[in-house]
Amino acid sequence: MKASDFALFGAKPKFASPVPVGQLYFPSWERYEAAFRGIFERQYYNNNGPLHEELEARLRAFLGVRHAILVTNATLGLMMTADALGLFGKVILPSFTFVASAQSLTWAGLKPVFCDIDPDTHQIDIDALAALIDDDVSAIMGVNLWGGSCNPHALAELAQAHGVRLYFDSAHAFGCEVGGQRIGGFGQAEVFSFHATKILNATEGGCICTNDDEVAARLRAIRPSYGTEVPVPVLRVANARMSEAQAAVALMSLEDFPANRQNNELLYRRYEAHLAAIPGLRLVRPTGVTLSNYQYMVCAVDSEVFGLSRDMLTGLLRAENVVARRYFYPGVHRCIPYAEQLSETEARLPNTDSACATSVQFPIGARVSPDAVDRICEIIGAAHKHAAEIRSRHDKT
Ligand SMILES: Cc1ncc(COP(=O)(O)O)c(C=O)c1O
Repeated sequence: MKASDFALFGAKPKFASPVPVGQLYFPSWERYEAAFRGIFERQYYNNNGPLHEELEARLRAFLGVRHAILVTNATLGLMMTADALGLFGKVILPSFTFVASAQSLTWAGLKPVFCDIDPDTHQIDIDALAALIDDDVSAIMGVNLWGGSCNPHALAELAQAHGVRLYFDSAHAFGCEVGGQRIGGFGQAEVFSFHATKILNATEGGCICTNDDEVAARLRAIRPSYGTEVPVPVLRVANARMSEAQAAVALMSLEDFPANRQNNELLYRRYEAHLAAIPGLRLVRPTGVTLSNYQYMVCAVDSEVFGLSRDMLTGLLRAENVVARRYFYPGVHRCIPYAEQLSETEARLPNTDSACATSVQFPIGARVSPDAVDRICEIIGAAHKHAAEIRSRHDKT
């Protein structure tokens, strides 16, 4: 490829249609039709239907947990968990996460305290976290990023030593294992997202897992917008039910999980082989796990060595219909309403700011073929090779 071959400078995009980063695994039409025919025949749409109950049972078995409580999405699941755990005051979490992690606390009337990350793994920095714990802190929210883990054992030790609760935003970590144990049973609770972009897909959905019967009873009392079979006192109720339609899609997705995980790993290894040879790109591998779902393909761009900034690379790929994303940007501490406290948070989050400025997510999942990975990496390699010319052409446009 020459510099003039890039779509950014008027050439035809290398991909005819957009290649997205989301997982987007769909079951075959025949399976989809059969599952929805069942819903039609039973005439049962919602409220603890047979597919809902089957999915909860299958998730309990798959994850090895006492309770798997299905919800409309992970954001609602995190909000409900904060209430069910009886949290108050401040909760420590990383700022390098999706905004919903922090927003769930704001909705629950809690104050998020942002902690920095390890620059290599992007997971929460446990030493920095220890320094943030004071008497007003009631919990730590670990976030298991990029199909890796934030070290549940070290966090549990810390939480126990300080007498605070520990729970996890595991939106990225369905099916991952730490020391051979599936993520889902660590801390007081873990919350998964079953959004279409995730490897376990209910189109939209989520699940709260816990081994604590009292927490589970409170969650089940919070979930519906009216009455419950297990009346336990709760502060307030929500409407966070999962429908039969969502459960039907998730059941098929759970069946397909081993194959989809394997496909992701194959694509990941292919990227790894190509990108390792390109100077200035560092793979942020899923760390701390003995098994990953390879839901994300993330790199940190060193603009000096690569020759282009992360944003120039992203723009160049997008022009080729490769929908690379700068996930997460600009960092939760810089988003509404948390930016109001920026003077307080900025100085202690240098690794977060750096990750927000340099990280890029490349497409992986159902809509990416091995051949597409080869072609995406060829474009990235050519971008490095022709970086000086791309920069000068870019400056003139
Ligand atoms: C780390 C993290 N937490 C929470 C969420 C929210 O999940 P949901 O869309 O199911 O509410 C996401 C969504 O991508 C996420 O990436």
